[in-house]
Amino acid sequence: MTPLETTDFDPSKIPAHVAIIMDGNGRWAKKRLMNRVKGHEKGSETVRTIVRVSRELGIRYLTLYAFSTENWGRPKMEVSALMSLLKKFIYSEKSDMMKHRIRLNALGQIEKLPEDVRSALVQVMEETKDNDGMCLNLALSYGSRDEIAGTVRLLAEQVKQGVMKSEEITEDVISSHLFTRGMPDPDLMIRTSGEMRISNFLMWQLSYAEIFFTPTLWPDFSEEEYKKILLDYQNRDRRFGKVEE
Ligand code: IPE
Ligand code: IPE
Ligand code: MG
Repeated sequence: MTPLETTDFDPSKIPAHVAIIMDGNGRWAKKRLMNRVKGHEKGSETVRTIVRVSRELGIRYLTLYAFSTENWGRPKMEVSALMSLLKKFIYSEKSDMMKHRIRLNALGQIEKLPEDVRSALVQVMEETKDNDGMCLNLALSYGSRDEIAGTVRLLAEQVKQGVMKSEEITEDVISSHLFTRGMPDPDLMIRTSGEMRISNFLMWQLSYAEIFFTPTLWPDFSEEEYKKILLDYQNRDRRFGKVEE
């Protein structure tokens, strides 16, 4: 099969927002009798590829689930390896982000990240904030329930203080208080590694996303497979509850 080219895609059907649950690093390493951390290292190479392909195809928002609120419960050694990989990734990609006008953004409880990771993140987010190309969202210490609970608390406080009436709490108001405020909801969600669950990822925002599960482990996820999924996505009939004319 010849590799898919940018011209194989219908430009009017490129998803505005793609969200990915990057899963399977540990199993990739285990299969090779390596430490799980090796799988995370290899997985960060896949991140580079997927960022590049997304940008080349004109996807405006790419959201990557990198660390969940539940992932804090992993062994200390693995958590700290993930944190240092993250910091390394942020610094090493900075020049590429500037070159390609990518804006870095974080979704989640960034105040819970170790100080050095948080400051790397804040620094690069600040430096890239005026970039007008793709927005790269890293979901870090992210949990959808935590995000929704935070929004509910904030809105309840506003009602209590009389700045807002409870009947003014609409779907749009809720959306505008989530970490993804101002962004379109994901059109497409991909999860690698064969698990068929959401694992506390963007539950509100994924309401109408097209979902693809692939058995491929994240470190093996390739440009070709990603493009095949995007092509499949373009052939899906998105009805949004309506009937065809
Ligand atoms: C995904 O890979 C990366 C993170 C959750 C940080 P895993 O580490 O979950 O890999 P598996 O699922 O154990 O194979
Ligand atoms: C989801 O993967 C979180 C990330 C990819 C960052 P997990 O491996 O943590 O999720 P479960 O345990 O399979 O639900
Ligand atoms: Mg996993």
